[in-house]
Amino acid sequence: MTETLRIAIVGAGVIGAVHARLVAALGDAGALAAIIDLDEVRGRALAEQYGVPFHTSAAEAYRTEELDLAAVCLPSAFHADAVVEALEAGLDVIVEKPIDVTLDAADRIRAAEQASGRTVSVISQRRFQPVASFIRRSIDAGALGRVTSGVVESAFFRPQEYYESGDWRGTAAIDGGGALMNQGIHALDLLLWMLGTPVSVSAKTGRLAHEGIEVEDVAGATIEFESGAIGLLLASTAAYPGLPVRLAVHGSEGTAVMENDGLSFFASATADQPEADALIEHDVPEGWSDVDMAHRRQYLDVIEAIRGGSRPAITTDDGRRALQVVLAVYESARTGRPVDLHE
Ligand SMILES: NC(=O)c1ccc[n+]([C@@H]2O[C@H](COP(=O)([O-])OP(=O)(O)OC[C@H]3O[C@@H](n4cnc5c(N)ncnc54)[C@H](O)[C@@H]3O)[C@@H](O)[C@H]2O)c1
Repeated sequence: MTETLRIAIVGAGVIGAVHARLVAALGDAGALAAIIDLDEVRGRALAEQYGVPFHTSAAEAYRTEELDLAAVCLPSAFHADAVVEALEAGLDVIVEKPIDVTLDAADRIRAAEQASGRTVSVISQRRFQPVASFIRRSIDAGALGRVTSGVVESAFFRPQEYYESGDWRGTAAIDGGGALMNQGIHALDLLLWMLGTPVSVSAKTGRLAHEGIEVEDVAGATIEFESGAIGLLLASTAAYPGLPVRLAVHGSEGTAVMENDGLSFFASATADQPEADALIEHDVPEGWSDVDMAHRRQYLDVIEAIRGGSRPAITTDDGRRALQVVLAVYESARTGRPVDLHE
């Protein structure tokens, strides 16, 4: 393997273009080396923008280009096939969230990961936002005492045209779900990261403000954790005009609230405030968002793990766990009964 990882982007759509921009700015850590997309016009345009080779087939790209890492940015239900193909070609993999849309597909990824001995990380960039890691460190340091509850809101808005902008969007088979599977999974993953192992889920979902989609545009759930803590989750794409992700973690000795990519409230009976104050003012370079910078940090984490032979911060276990809870929300909403995650 060369010093600088040679990275192929598989899927040149909305998030593929974000990956291309991030990879092109990685410096010595990684270099954009190929763009792959079935859509020749879209894929070639992105490849030409960065002056890298374009392929309509991943198999052809893996055969003809020197590559180390594939970043899979395809519609959600195509993730497992693309990840397995890249692993079998000897590449490490970054795959966009959700890991895929079924547990069988997630398990295929994990089996191929183990068989190959390669690294796979599932994107969940919000864990790399400074405020999220601050809250997690505060929990680990005991600054919140015993964590008793957590509340996450992903109250987004997507107009009808969003669902019409791609034939896979809002489909049960390829999007795999709606406001929770596609958008709210970021907030859900933060809740899981903060509160630990979920053990049961009760939920309701609805399709209230969009036409012609097969998935929910609002989901609400209560999640019980192994520790006894209670989590509340709201995921919506029908909350005009759309609010930033909000996360509150409450404990017996403190509370931390993430809002607008910053820390809007922090109180601890035992820890000092200063780090929290400093964090609110953290720098983001011009032209990049806090979430972009978090995405970049996840890339750097994965590259460091590949180079050092260690596990990335976000593993396929994490990706599978988030997917398992999303699917439990759907099952509970469908059956009207709680879903036990031990089963
Ligand atoms: N982390 C985030 O914040 C974030 C944001 C947006 C999307 N995503 C995820 O990224 C994935 C892609 O979403 P998007 O909005 O970029 O979708 P998109 O429809 O904009 O792009 C998907 C691209 O994949 C191409 N494609 C489809 N099948 C292909 C195949 N078999 N081989 C090669 N190319 C193929 C399409 O031509 C298209 O260019 C989804 O899983 C989504 O959940 C993550």
